[in-house]
Amino acid sequence: MKKIKVLISEEKINNRLDELANQIMDKYKGKDIVFLCILKGSIFFTVELAKRIKNNIQFEFVEVSSYENNESTGKVKLNKDITQSIEGKEVIIIEDIVDTGRTLAFLKELLLEKKPASLKICSLLDKPSRRIANVKADYVGFAIEDKFVVGYGLDDEQNLRNLNYIGYIEE
Ligand code: IMP
Ligand code: MG
Repeated sequence: MKKIKVLISEEKINNRLDELANQIMDKYKGKDIVFLCILKGSIFFTVELAKRIKNNIQFEFVEVSSYENNESTGKVKLNKDITQSIEGKEVIIIEDIVDTGRTLAFLKELLLEKKPASLKICSLLDKPSRRIANVKADYVGFAIEDKFVVGYGLDDEQNLRNLNYIGYIEE
């Protein structure tokens, strides 16, 4: 059995989500927002953050994957697109983690073609030391060191998403 260590507790996550929600409400006063959730890793974060925000939120979902688990090519492909127009809307991409940044660089370009009024990025986690693509999240929950993390939506080969904290696997 793999042993999981707690990196960020549920309590810490909850406190940080309160802060992020307040930041977003401050910026988007009186406006409707579209939360664009990147499946599957961002589902927990999307729901928990949205519940703390008083603005009306619409939800869209995309699913992306890398062509291969090959860091040298790193090509991203879209498996599932949004189903409603985001033209003229205030869109926030909700991501679990910004790692190399390739996923978000790819998505940003694709979504900007759909002409939203604004397009921002909110990521629960950020691993700045791993960045390859030139992309930066506008709202970040926690910057972490270069560790492979699981839980709160993040998976290890599709497992461990439903941990209520963020952990790492002790080798
Ligand atoms: P990117 O390298 O920024 O394109 O990140 C691609 C995706 O890799 C993220 O959206 C996550 O789904 C996944 N990922 C990156 N780092 C981790 C990790 O530490 N644990 C689990 N998934 C990760
Ligand atoms: Mg992901």
